[in-house]
Amino acid sequence: VILTQDDLKKIAAYKAVEYVESGMVLGLGTGSTAKHAVDRIAELLRQGKLKNIVGIPTSMKTHEQAVSLGIPLSDLDSHPVIDLAIDGADEVDPYLNLVKGRGGSLLREKMVESVCKKFVVIVDESKLVNYLGGSGLAMPVEIIRFCWKFTAVRLQKLFQESGCVAKLRTFGEKEEPFVTDNGNYIVDLYFEKSIGDLKVASDAILHIAGVVEHGMFLDMATTVIVAGELGLTVKNK
Ligand code: A5P
Repeated sequence: VILTQDDLKKIAAYKAVEYVESGMVLGLGTGSTAKHAVDRIAELLRQGKLKNIVGIPTSMKTHEQAVSLGIPLSDLDSHPVIDLAIDGADEVDPYLNLVKGRGGSLLREKMVESVCKKFVVIVDESKLVNYLGGSGLAMPVEIIRFCWKFTAVRLQKLFQESGCVAKLRTFGEKEEPFVTDNGNYIVDLYFEKSIGDLKVASDAILHIAGVVEHGMFLDMATTVIVAGELGLTVKNK
């Protein structure tokens, strides 16, 4: 049997849902991998194998999916502590640091996933990297719309030595700016070289006025479940 990338995502997601227990407050992730976890949670609720779950969605899209499946939902105002969050990632480094946000939901994801007791990340093996920013793909930063070029230039200059290029995220043929669930823009940072110490980079990005949040999730994941051609690997912090 040849497994597709989506099969691998589903295998990782189903494994993560084994960590869910009745009565939990659950952070519901966003993206094509997390979607399978949300489907599975709903299935177990319907079968009566899980009870009294409260879901805290990390995006409008996941909110819609969960509502359509009948999963009871709430928010961080009512549930400031979360038992378990399950979400995908764009990159995972050997220390379980992540890049997230290529789907654009990094801010709400970080709000939810920074207050959960357990954070289980689900990926297929293509997401594993030696260092963050190392896949040649984007490192997303959510910024306010006001004078976004100014903020983008400041971000690019910050990582000049890493050969950084900052690009406003757009969509469609007309290349309209992509707008997040929070009404902000996203600047994607591309690096030629490693950005060095991640904590230093994180602090520096967050110090730029106009930046709302970035997609590095440092020291947050407690478990990463990787699905590959040869099976599942579970990495614990
Ligand atoms: C959403 O903004 C992202 O952080 C996703 O969690 C991440 O992009 C993973 O998405 P996929 O599971 O679709 O790869």
